[in-house]
Amino acid sequence: MTVLEAIQKSADFLAGRGVESPRLQAELLLAHRLGLPRLKLYLNFERALTVAETDAFREWVRRRSRREPLQHILGSTSFCGFDIAVSRRALVPRPETELLAELGWKWLARRASANAPDVTALDLGTGSGCIAIALAAKCPSAKIAATDVSPGALALARDNAAKNKVAGRIAFLQGDGFAAFRPAGQVAQAPNQKPENGDGDSEDPLLQEFDLIISNPPYIPSAEIETLQPEVRDYDPREALDGGADGLDFYRRFAAQAKPFLKPDGKLMLEFGDGQAEAVRRIFENEKWIVEAVKEDYSQRARILIATAASRSRGNTGG
Ligand SMILES: C[S@@+](CC[C@H](N)C(=O)[O-])C[C@H]1O[C@@H](n2cnc3c(N)ncnc32)[C@H](O)[C@@H]1O
Repeated sequence: MTVLEAIQKSADFLAGRGVESPRLQAELLLAHRLGLPRLKLYLNFERALTVAETDAFREWVRRRSRREPLQHILGSTSFCGFDIAVSRRALVPRPETELLAELGWKWLARRASANAPDVTALDLGTGSGCIAIALAAKCPSAKIAATDVSPGALALARDNAAKNKVAGRIAFLQGDGFAAFRPAGQVAQAPNQKPENGDGDSEDPLLQEFDLIISNPPYIPSAEIETLQPEVRDYDPREALDGGADGLDFYRRFAAQAKPFLKPDGKLMLEFGDGQAEAVRRIFENEKWIVEAVKEDYSQRARILIATAASRSRGNTGG
């Protein structure tokens, strides 16, 4: 079978199984299998595949036809240019979240150069670690903490930090919401919290107030999870998706609990779902936050809230 025949046959097969963009998916799988950039396939259409190549490719196509996400089959994905390993342990990083990470590291870098040599950030619900890794790599003077309720996600995040050479700059902590932290003045560490520093060293694992708190929390209404594409419903962890009855549970928690963990003039940056902008804004305004901006994603849909804690604000630091 030639490269072109393999692509055409698999694209038809995947289309029949309801896979979106089946030709592109077939090309990406084959290119990865052959170790070629996808566009190079076009110069190799007449090349005959070996039996081993055909068998291995067929197995990948079979997995994709069962709606396993492309990224799980390939084993990794790119996030802001960083190679992030993916598995069932954590949400596959989404392109929309790259914008959140970029807003975060740009603000953090400005803050660092303006007035604070050791700026701090917390990525709450770190999943694969993608946001924390991007912040650590793009803002080398920042100290980053990353938490998740899921030990499996944290293990994956630690591996990803090591792979991207920022493990020593991120403190990984397991905990529900802010449970791994205590506001300044209170006892530092709850007995059941286990700090896990990326390089195995325990330097400063608990940062108690942050310049930036950033998060892409679960925001799918519970009842909608069953209606999602199989790639999401059956492969992303439920705890990465489920935002409670109306999808907004985590925004209520942030609005009620985040202020003591934010430095004066610090920023809270949160991703939310398409169509949730007004409800999320109301939740924060009701808790006396100043909503500074609601940013749109690349398809002009409102997806990111930027807020400061009104009662703790000491003026504008830009952003
Ligand atoms: C939507 S995923 C985002 C993962 C990653 N930050 C990203 O953008 O790809 C939400 C993450 O929050 C974590 N999570 C869910 N409930 C949590 C809780 N109560 N406390 C801390 N993390 C939680 C999930 O395990 C999951 O990793």
